[in-house]
Amino acid sequence: MQKKHSFVLKGNICYSNSNKKLVICKDSYVVCQEGICKGVFRELPSKYETYSIKDMGDHLIIPGLTDLHTHAPQYAFRGLGMDLELLEWLNTHTFPEEKKYADLTYAKKAYQMFVDDLKKSAVSRAVIFATMHVEGTKVLMDLLETSGLETYVGKVSMDRNAQEGLQEESAETAAAAIRQWLQETEGHYEHTKAILTPRFIPSCSDALMAEIQKIQKETGIPVQSHLSENPGEIQWVQELCPNSSSYSDAYYQAGLFGGTCPTIMAHCVWLNDEEMSLIKKQGVFIAHCPQSNINLSSGIAPVRKFLDKGISVGLGSDMAAGYSTSVLRAMADTIQCSKLRWRLLDTDQKPVTLEEAFYMGTAGGGAFFGKVGSFLEGYEFDAVVLDDSALVHPQELSIRERLERLIYLADDRQVKYKFVKGNLIYEKNKKLLTNE
Ligand code: GUN
Ligand code: FE
Repeated sequence: MQKKHSFVLKGNICYSNSNKKLVICKDSYVVCQEGICKGVFRELPSKYETYSIKDMGDHLIIPGLTDLHTHAPQYAFRGLGMDLELLEWLNTHTFPEEKKYADLTYAKKAYQMFVDDLKKSAVSRAVIFATMHVEGTKVLMDLLETSGLETYVGKVSMDRNAQEGLQEESAETAAAAIRQWLQETEGHYEHTKAILTPRFIPSCSDALMAEIQKIQKETGIPVQSHLSENPGEIQWVQELCPNSSSYSDAYYQAGLFGGTCPTIMAHCVWLNDEEMSLIKKQGVFIAHCPQSNINLSSGIAPVRKFLDKGISVGLGSDMAAGYSTSVLRAMADTIQCSKLRWRLLDTDQKPVTLEEAFYMGTAGGGAFFGKVGSFLEGYEFDAVVLDDSALVHPQELSIRERLERLIYLADDRQVKYKFVKGNLIYEKNKKLLTNE
């Protein structure tokens, strides 16, 4: 077990206390007591005076960001193959790359690059697809564990419509592989958790979905998958599941759609109102992945509707349909896409605000991990210190304006320190700080 740290950070502190409100405290103190946030104070209460104070000067301090949907093995081909829609893209670029993770030497090399990138970013939490390979998935989990990031990792399940070398033989073999993976990783990690990962309905037979539901019921482990990303995909699901009333209903009928089964569904671009009501009722989290939706010409998700209906929404990079690992970038993309939807598709759906985008990238997605993504009292202490001094400007800017510019202009170079559950896991220009 790691030592639980108590300390204070001083600087310009920004966080959400709801999806409509950004709290901005210039030159203030945020207190970490044994990994838990005790709140933000303009004057440091005397009971914390004995804590060490780390003065961040004029830097901004924000909660760690959550990437609610990403694919570690696809990092290798980021920025490539952006000329196709989903189903062709999977067959042409994604499946051939994912096959390579049967080779552990390749897996180790490629996953190390992904983890190094994530470690230097403003992300403190991530929910990650690996591949269908048990051993390769364990390699990824080992690397993530040493990074100090808090993650969920899924061994992907897929027993139909894939390719030779990237498809499990049967539902039974696929279920046995999940059980082996869970058994071999159980109790192994402090920061890295398992998540059941049926790739999407076209990749998973009814029998496999039933096996996964059985395992979910036995273990209580959450589930992640893809939903309603592309019109051709949705049509295909209707053909594969003729007794379902919608794509969402196909997951619901399989018992893998919220309720007692904590669930994240990526994309949700083309949901109808009935599906949104089911998502809300079942407490399913939506991972909104705007950059991916642009690159694969999937469409523009109705995020304004999600928010107005009170659905839980976080942001995903969806590497490598999205080419950027940055969740700050995902906030900017969310705002930009929502403006296009408002202008082109539905003038009743107002664009997403900066406050809402920041909320989704912090507390919105963080909620999947519990009390994560804010500096309200009782939240787990994930914090990122951002140095915006290289983003020069001649005029005076408020802290809010500086945060806005960071959302649009920042990259890893602005990340100076990153704390996860009170542990300093990254310091710019230093090698990874080991977890004491
Ligand atoms: N649907 C099924 N698999 C995938 C994937 O790897 N990426 C995306 N964007 N959608 C998917
Ligand atoms: Fe995805």
